[in-house]
Amino acid sequence: MVEFSIKGGAPQTGGNGCLVVGVFEPRKLSAAAAGLDGAAQGYLSKVVRRGDMQGKSGTTLLLHDVPGAAARVLLVGLGREADFRDKQYREAVAAAIRALNATGAEEASLHLTELVVGKRDAAWKVAHAVTVARESAYRFTRMKSKSEDSGPALRRLVLNVDRAALKHAAAGLEQGLAVAHGMSLAKDLGNLPPNVCTPSYLAGQARELAQRYRMKITVLERADMQRLGMHSLLSVAQGSAQPPKFIVLEHRRGPKKMKPVAIVGKGITFDTGGISLKPAAEMDEMKFDMCGAASVLGTLKAVGEMKLPINVVGVVPTTENMPGGRATRPGDIVKSLSGQTVEILNTDAEGRLILCDALTYVERFEPAAVIDIATLTGACVIALGHVASGLFANDDALAREVASAGEASYDRVWRMPLWADYQEQLKSNFADFANIGGRPAGAVTAACFLARFAGKFKWAHLDIAGTAWKSGKEKGATGRPVPLLTQFLISRAGKR
Ligand code: BES
Ligand code: MN
Ligand code: ZN
Repeated sequence: MVEFSIKGGAPQTGGNGCLVVGVFEPRKLSAAAAGLDGAAQGYLSKVVRRGDMQGKSGTTLLLHDVPGAAARVLLVGLGREADFRDKQYREAVAAAIRALNATGAEEASLHLTELVVGKRDAAWKVAHAVTVARESAYRFTRMKSKSEDSGPALRRLVLNVDRAALKHAAAGLEQGLAVAHGMSLAKDLGNLPPNVCTPSYLAGQARELAQRYRMKITVLERADMQRLGMHSLLSVAQGSAQPPKFIVLEHRRGPKKMKPVAIVGKGITFDTGGISLKPAAEMDEMKFDMCGAASVLGTLKAVGEMKLPINVVGVVPTTENMPGGRATRPGDIVKSLSGQTVEILNTDAEGRLILCDALTYVERFEPAAVIDIATLTGACVIALGHVASGLFANDDALAREVASAGEASYDRVWRMPLWADYQEQLKSNFADFANIGGRPAGAVTAACFLARFAGKFKWAHLDIAGTAWKSGKEKGATGRPVPLLTQFLISRAGKR
């Protein structure tokens, strides 16, 4: 586990360490690299002139025993200076960490945090360096019977900033670590297999968070949900042998009268599709269908760690979606907690069926804003791919606030419409409306369904089906959108 610290001043490091400095394309030393070059009597510029480091983004070159400088100097290509923005900065840090992890250096001094990155301040640069470094160090090894290797030697990472920005940068370090820890929890929960990460397991995790960060916790059981009338949620749960849970975690560190922000995460611990069974190919990935829930727990961890002076209610409706003799049938009609009736035409459109009751439930908190987070539709993956999460909102100011938290945290969203015209696709001949709206604009009609339960508050919906995990060789949870949600709450709390 790497320990981070912040420092202001000239490049220097302990005997066994590594200095990390940037080189722009073509062959242009950054300020820190030029300073080092002076101390090393032109050694770096000689290497660069020779053509071994052109400055191309993503490239690195490790130099040993640089005279007058350090035992190791790592040159990191930054691309063209004029193009050096958020993305290039984060990639340079990631490349540096990858290269460092391949060395035996226990300590490194990172001078990338001093670079100019558009208008980003030192706190931003430090926070992102920390989260990127932690992200590239993340491994999910809990289910392996043997550990594969002993891991990198790197123990300490010093982040260098201008002396004047030291105090400001310390806040960035705290926030970056909190986000990294929240993401790591969200990734672990997403990556755990569905026979381990059940609704009861999630409730247990929430209880641990509550205890550790002094939050209030309530877990509703099936009988409680029945009494309340959450028949939409219960219809999804009725095919499963695992008992459903409805988790409510309250972080209350803001002024008593301040209305809370509610974050609601879809917690389907495995989505078979139910009677509308999914095809077998890649069905294992439906263990990630609780990544919305994981992002709620991860964000509460980050917020709890920072003791953020704000009121937040985290809500996680969680169940499996299984077929079986007790499972809901296509054609069933259920009464939601709101009183509205829903015709279930496809049991695989289950996320909205559990979220709608959760949305009605949070009315009791008189929330200042509600954000739900869900791996809701394959259609959203088709629309936005794996880059942006889909954003839907019934309030323009809230939509802008969420979008800018996404920009600041490099956890971006793109707004989609919620126009009434789309509501027509949800018409039902037998109930108030149906749970599906056909193939066209599938992400929009899913959001339109939820909008019918969000009339009493300012609400935003994030469809993270394309962003919550990666498929293929790098299969695994990403921890998104913990960075966005945490940034949103930091901004609301009035910190940066
Ligand atoms: N969890 C899925 C959405 C999903 C699918 C996420 C693929 C990531 C990748 C959701 O419950 C679902 O099955 N949605 C259906 C809705 C349809 C039946 C209207 C879908 O997207 O196909
Ligand atoms: Mn489904
Ligand atoms: Zn699902």
